[in-house]
Amino acid sequence: MKNILVVGGAGYIGSHAARVLKDKGYFPVVYDNLSKGHKKAVRGFAFIKGDLGNKKKLKTVFKKYNIEAVMHFAAFTEVGESVAEPSKYYENNVCKVISLLDAAVESGVKYFVFSSSASVFGEPEKERIDETHPKNPINPYGRTKLMVERILKDYDTAYGLKSVSLRYFNACGAHPSGKIGESHGVESHLIPIIFQAALGKRESIKIFGSDYPTKDGTCIRDYVHVNDLADAHILAMEKMEKENKSECYNLGSGSGYSVKEILDSVKKITGLDFKIEYAPRRAGDPAALVADPAKAEKELNWTRKYDLEQIIKTVANWEKKRRY
Ligand code: UFG
Repeated sequence: MKNILVVGGAGYIGSHAARVLKDKGYFPVVYDNLSKGHKKAVRGFAFIKGDLGNKKKLKTVFKKYNIEAVMHFAAFTEVGESVAEPSKYYENNVCKVISLLDAAVESGVKYFVFSSSASVFGEPEKERIDETHPKNPINPYGRTKLMVERILKDYDTAYGLKSVSLRYFNACGAHPSGKIGESHGVESHLIPIIFQAALGKRESIKIFGSDYPTKDGTCIRDYVHVNDLADAHILAMEKMEKENKSECYNLGSGSGYSVKEILDSVKKITGLDFKIEYAPRRAGDPAALVADPAKAEKELNWTRKYDLEQIIKTVANWEKKRRY
């Protein structure tokens, strides 16, 4: 298997996956409508500008490039926005995915890798979340991800399309080259916002909630480097092809850090300073979300190369060299 369609490959996680695929000898073909993605993130890659819902165009691309597997990253990802504008989320993250799946099936593609999310679980019922944890998403974003996971099961039963759903915890970090990294129009994620405050692009960083039942009162999350996620995609794809079996994996480090710990680490590791303010809790934030990555480690031989310190160093490097 060589030619892989990377849908949403000009976005944050997709662009890192495309690069890692290329490094490992695959031929990634990036398909992106550039509504959120960046052309500069895919310089030197085969690139087609197109929409996820454009089945006709997708079928032409599948044929032209003899695509054997799809990695699908093109989704809207803002939890708050999904509550305010569910229509936009169900349309893009579910309806249009059906066009992509049908184009793949009708073109004879047999393998599909899906970017799912820890948000499929909702409020955690135990400290570390494994794949058997109940799935009760608490916002439309999480529901779109769970719906697609279920649609994929039906497509396997009916059409034999094998898939792997990868549920990311908190994706972060940047490519060690500093050529690509995280860049959203409106930033809402913790680590990029800390750097904005540290580099004078915003006045301060607000801690959303300091009265959670955690060690220091702030939310705990599981931060996992985007290149480690990219590695997991390739391992999962290769295993799926070898065993011809659909699967799902939780992708996190298994270690949780509080918001305060992340702020302290950025200060310590980069030497940068920034103003911190306390703000009320953000709606829909669970107190703690930490993965149990044992299944991915055991079945995929997945190991992570980046710990928190290395994650922060790659972001600092990206922020220094940022081109988009
Ligand atoms: N936070 C702040 N201040 C900020 C931004 C974030 O205190 O300015 C806190 C949040 O309240 C949260 C933590 O930092 O406790 C991490 O927040 P992020 O927005 O970086 O990430 P989330 O945990 O909310 O979201 C991530 C993914 C989503 C996914 C969600 C659930 O980015 O796509 O996990 O799986 F839906």
